[in-house]
Amino acid sequence: MTKNKNWWKNKIAYQIYPRSFCDSNGDGIGDINGIVSKLDYLKDLGIDIIWICPVYRSPMDDGGYDISDYYDIDPIFGKKEDMDVLIDEANRRGIKILMDLVLNHCSDEHPWFKKALADPDSEEAGYFWFRESHGAPPNNWRSMFGGSAWENVGGDRWYLHLFSKKQPDLNWENPKLRQKLYDMINYWLDKGLGGFRIDAITHIKKEPTLSSLPADGPDGMVDCYGPTRNYPGIGDLLTELRKNTFDKYECMTVAEAAGVPYEELGAYIGKDGYFDTLFDFTYSELYARGHGWHTCMRPWEWPISNLRDKMFASQLATEKVGFGAVYFENHDYPRACAKYLPDQYVSPLSQKMLGTLFFFLRGIPFIYQGQELGMTNTHFDSIDQVDDISTKNHYKLAIADGFSPDEAIKAVQRYSRDNARVPFPWNDEKNGGFTVGTPWVKVHPDYASVNAADEQVDKDSVLNYYKRMIALRKSNEYNQTFTFGDIKPILLEHDDIIAYVREGDKKIAVICSFCPSQKEITLPFECGEMLLSNYNRQNIDGKKMTLSPFECAVIAVKE
Ligand code: GLC
Ligand code: CA
Repeated sequence: MTKNKNWWKNKIAYQIYPRSFCDSNGDGIGDINGIVSKLDYLKDLGIDIIWICPVYRSPMDDGGYDISDYYDIDPIFGKKEDMDVLIDEANRRGIKILMDLVLNHCSDEHPWFKKALADPDSEEAGYFWFRESHGAPPNNWRSMFGGSAWENVGGDRWYLHLFSKKQPDLNWENPKLRQKLYDMINYWLDKGLGGFRIDAITHIKKEPTLSSLPADGPDGMVDCYGPTRNYPGIGDLLTELRKNTFDKYECMTVAEAAGVPYEELGAYIGKDGYFDTLFDFTYSELYARGHGWHTCMRPWEWPISNLRDKMFASQLATEKVGFGAVYFENHDYPRACAKYLPDQYVSPLSQKMLGTLFFFLRGIPFIYQGQELGMTNTHFDSIDQVDDISTKNHYKLAIADGFSPDEAIKAVQRYSRDNARVPFPWNDEKNGGFTVGTPWVKVHPDYASVNAADEQVDKDSVLNYYKRMIALRKSNEYNQTFTFGDIKPILLEHDDIIAYVREGDKKIAVICSFCPSQKEITLPFECGEMLLSNYNRQNIDGKKMTLSPFECAVIAVKE
């Protein structure tokens, strides 16, 4: 039977950070049964696919991205059977579940690593990157969470970890390890899973000599991107992975694939690509990374045309070879409004405009939990309220640069990953209805006004606007165009407007103004029906429009 590998293309996806979605048993931590209890909320929103961040057994050093048993569910999230129920209950509603697949590293508490530590001659020692070096790490690579990418385990023995030291990198050169990973992947796919979001996958191939490189910072170290991201030869590994797993199922795969140049996109997501689709990061990491978040420029201090140009470059490159996955938020970023809008202009109105901008791009849209409510960044008073390992590292960098604790927390607040990892506000009751216990991380201070229950009944809420966006994208009339239509940037003469036309069997224009005052524009077409507007604007005649501050409009083009 030929497999339908395209079932997901016209669907809407939603990302869940399970620790913070819904707590069913009062221990303060979101769990799988909590997700099951909210499937109807997601169905009502119009969601077809849910990506759930890792729920496998884990010491939770990095929010579950440090897995100690790939076959088990962590007790904080529930039991293995709960996952089966979730998959079935979702399938019953026509919703597919994507699990998170972490293949670049596991936890230092995984039995493989424990055996490898105990016995350097064991098979498992070959699953990791152990090297001998006297007195100093084997090379000068810097880990992505700061500090050396090597950890000493006694004597001259070290192991490589591109992320935290509790996340030893797996050695993909080892065929036995690869087979173990394929077996595990097939085990989950056999359960009727929709597929996987695949973590940090461009890092699995390392520069084979593991040599030091010229330092790029005062610490004498060098970013590990060059020698470990999309490194030549990775294609052979990814092709073998696909053939042994995903090819056998009607599943979808979305890769976290940072660092893939546009010329190589075809190998990743073209016909016979390694994956179905991928997340491109070129338009979401607009702030210069610099030496720590405290040195970063706020993205909106750049002209908004910077976002526009990167976004369109990504869209046009992707359109040539395949089908992208579009998003503005995820569990690794602060809320989009903090990145793309000046603080004083963040409002439900401008949040709807931001949502519109990303949602009608070409590619499958991923909404991150709380984005549909217009959630903003949270607030930390001190580093003690932060759980995220990367925020803690950036805080240390700020302190080392002479910032006071007060200044340092302010400096890292804007970019902290915990901004978007706070509990989902279901209603205005205690803890936003997320838990009857004590939440594992402080709830968002605005939950009394920004929550799902209140927004359900307010017809002008961000939530109801998202519902309208989803319904429009999925409508019989426009689904073909929104899914497969080409993307044509327009109004490029205005630096504070991002606008495009989707051209499929119909033509639809999406216009988003980042201008805080009124703005006259002349459209390159005659307006047809007004399909969506954050100002509830009615149809307009002709080509001229005066946009209000942060106005957006989705307009059928008159043919
Ligand atoms: C990915 C995840 C991130 C995690 C990292 C290491 O980037 O999205 O949350 O910290 O991989 O697994
Ligand atoms: Ca719980």
